[in-house]
Amino acid sequence: MDFNDKVVLITGASSGIGAAIAIHFSKLSAKLVLVGRKENNLKKIALYCEKAKGIKPLTVLADLTEDLEVENLVKQTIDQYGKIDVLVNNAGVMNMGGIKDANVEIYDKVMSINMRAVYHLTNLCVPHLIQSKGCIVNVSSILGSKVNTNCLPYNISKAALDHFTKCIALELAPDGVRVNSVNPGFVKTNILKDVGLTEDQVELLVKNIVGRTPLKRLVEACEVAALIAFLASDQSKSITGSCMTIDGGSKLQ
Ligand SMILES: NC(=O)c1ccc[n+]([C@@H]2O[C@H](COP(=O)([O-])OP(=O)(O)OC[C@H]3O[C@@H](n4cnc5c(N)ncnc54)[C@H](OP(=O)(O)O)[C@@H]3O)[C@@H](O)[C@H]2O)c1
Repeated sequence: MDFNDKVVLITGASSGIGAAIAIHFSKLSAKLVLVGRKENNLKKIALYCEKAKGIKPLTVLADLTEDLEVENLVKQTIDQYGKIDVLVNNAGVMNMGGIKDANVEIYDKVMSINMRAVYHLTNLCVPHLIQSKGCIVNVSSILGSKVNTNCLPYNISKAALDHFTKCIALELAPDGVRVNSVNPGFVKTNILKDVGLTEDQVELLVKNIVGRTPLKRLVEACEVAALIAFLASDQSKSITGSCMTIDGGSKLQ
């Protein structure tokens, strides 16, 4: 698999799964556009990517909930590379709590990055993806379809994202643009620390999740990255509108 001369735009590349996606594509010789808010983290990942094949990524600091920053991201990408071949909508946040704990601000915060920003960025990238006959991979979650009581806005945002994936896959198929999602189970990243869980609480959760996962293992970020690269490659040229579960069998229960 080779992404030589392919321009791959990855949101949320400064941490966790997005960083793993960036590193994976850098080893496949892609020209990368790495997007995040934390400058130091983004630079660190960019440097790591550059070391793989000597190709310096374009890094763009952007809060994707800000419309002008999304517009600027696409402009900078086109100014630098003239095209976009692969869009990976990965940036996202989580929340804890159900309807009894809810307030509408949490709903707005989660939906604005997990769904609205994806809608906006995708909308701006689509003309370029049609031109390149490119593809989109969205990073969703098993919680888009597996019901739980712990993180309601997050679950809703990922359910919306899955439907978005399927609707635009159908719309863009005649244009030769494929659209899929990966739907991971739990992956150990910063996402839970950012909602306020301590290291000990995360470790306890990890132990519980491994214990009840049929394959008795956690999904690793690099495995999600490899699945995304497959979905973005010619090896999957008949796959569109799919939401691919990668969860060690969790959703079977
Ligand atoms: N970890 C899991 O168990 C799991 C499971 C299923 C799906 N996912 C999905 O995987 C994706 C990545 O999550 P992760 O686990 O890797 O979490 P993470 O380590 O917390 O990374 C989240 C990334 O999203 C970026 N981001 C958040 N809000 C942003 C905003 N407003 N504008 C621009 N960038 C923003 C962050 O950028 P900065 O850090 O630079 O601010 C960071 O790079 C998310 O969509 C998540 O829902 C995660």
